[in-house]
Amino acid sequence: MNRNTTEGDKSRFPRHIAIIMDGNGRWAKRRLMPRSFGHRQGMERMIGLLEHAFDLGVDYVTVYALSTENLQRPAEELEGLYQLIRKHFREYMKKICERGVRLRVLGDTSLLPEDVRKIIADSEAESAEYRGRGINVALAYGSRAEIVRAANLAVMRGETVTEESFAKLLYTGGQPDPDLVIRTGKERRISNFLLYQAAYAEFYFSDKMFPEFSDADLDEAIAEYGRRTRRFGKTDEQCREEEKNKKV
Ligand code: FPP
Repeated sequence: MNRNTTEGDKSRFPRHIAIIMDGNGRWAKRRLMPRSFGHRQGMERMIGLLEHAFDLGVDYVTVYALSTENLQRPAEELEGLYQLIRKHFREYMKKICERGVRLRVLGDTSLLPEDVRKIIADSEAESAEYRGRGINVALAYGSRAEIVRAANLAVMRGETVTEESFAKLLYTGGQPDPDLVIRTGKERRISNFLLYQAAYAEFYFSDKMFPEFSDADLDEAIAEYGRRTRRFGKTDEQCREEEKNKKV
């Protein structure tokens, strides 16, 4: 299924998918390999999934690569992740962004090593002119910190905010909210990810570890999304009525 083959209503196809890429470490451990091997495989899978999602017609994909809480991990593991960014990030992102996709990094990048920050900034600059489709890579990201930052921005500007104007102050400002949040790795929690933006997202949990979450698994998550009724607080009857009116 892709956006154009979705039967009937296009709203049954997610415009924005967010993924919590959990399970790299456990995947590697089961193979008696170091965690860094899991992150390497995870990065390859992340690129494959991004390409597949954009091929299907998804407009925005947000991937959770490193949380502010993850920054407390052993220095060796963090260094492994930074090395992945140093070696592959720019080239991999370029490959995807060439399709007219804009890269945004969500998070407090001042917490990252200086050379890593530069790679990220250069990669973002390369796709800055694109509009309408985007990859968000959450790095040194925490949703509560993002919300507090946005609140402080509003205070500094002397603004009284609305729900809409506040959303524009978040790292994802100007983008549609995620429709579907996928978490791999068998855990069922949100882990400080897109708390404001995902208020009405559908959640899909997979028991697979992230390196083994295939393109076909993404297809299944999207199909499951298509089978759900998003009520946004309304009753079933009201939703059916709205669907009927849309078709007329
Ligand atoms: C959480 O699973 C995953 C991470 C902390 C890192 C995710 C990173 C990638 C998928 C690839 C790297 C991408 C970039 C852009 C650097 P975990 O490893 O903590 O798994 P566990 O719960 O099994 O220990």
